[in-house]
Amino acid sequence: MRPLIAGNWKMNGLSSALSEIERLIGLLSGPAAPNCDAVICPPATLLDRCSSKFAGAGVSFGGQDCHAAVSGAHTGDVSAEMLADAGARFVIVGHSERRADYGESDAIVRRKASAGQRAGLTPIICVGETEAERRAGKAEAVVSGQLAGSIPPGGGSFVIAYEPVWAIGTGLTPTIDDIADMHALIRHAVGLDARILYGGSVKPSNAADILRVHHVNGALVGGASLKADDFAAIIRAA
Ligand code: PGA
Repeated sequence: MRPLIAGNWKMNGLSSALSEIERLIGLLSGPAAPNCDAVICPPATLLDRCSSKFAGAGVSFGGQDCHAAVSGAHTGDVSAEMLADAGARFVIVGHSERRADYGESDAIVRRKASAGQRAGLTPIICVGETEAERRAGKAEAVVSGQLAGSIPPGGGSFVIAYEPVWAIGTGLTPTIDDIADMHALIRHAVGLDARILYGGSVKPSNAADILRVHHVNGALVGGASLKADDFAAIIRAA
């Protein structure tokens, strides 16, 4: 399965950040093309410019969230169709920051994932347990429940990102065995077709070890995707 390395820029990046993508593409070009699909999910304000400026340059773009409806009276929201119109190919849905900050339930995440598919995007559906849930021995049950509730009913094309909440932006990562166990559980739940990414404090120093784990088909990278050198090193590790 061809790995997918996706960068989640979160609420970071002004026009000046386009030069960082230019640098990334420079770092990735050369005789040995990377052996994976590389995606950047910039803020929605940069999506159109990114996808026009870097069309065909070997990096795809995605949104970080979408509304479930095609259009309508939803002030401040962006639909999956709008993201696709701006050149997106992917959309992250159900990121733990959205689940926590906006109370997004599995049912909402599922509708957003379906909306992404409707617009021709591949949804990257995020799941993951909190620190308290892991300590209580509930990590597997929580992730199984999120998978059951968040994946579109008809299946279709999607990517899962397993992101333990306590590993996001903290520098902490699960042990390799814990990652392997959770990815095996997810593989069992979603079947053979979907790519399963690991996310949470992926950086150049740990990427190779994580990407080597069975059923880890790539990474969702936050902080380290903002720096061209770090993100290029992670892409090269895949
Ligand atoms: P991080 O974020 O790599 O900065 O931990 C990952 C994410 O939130 O997708």
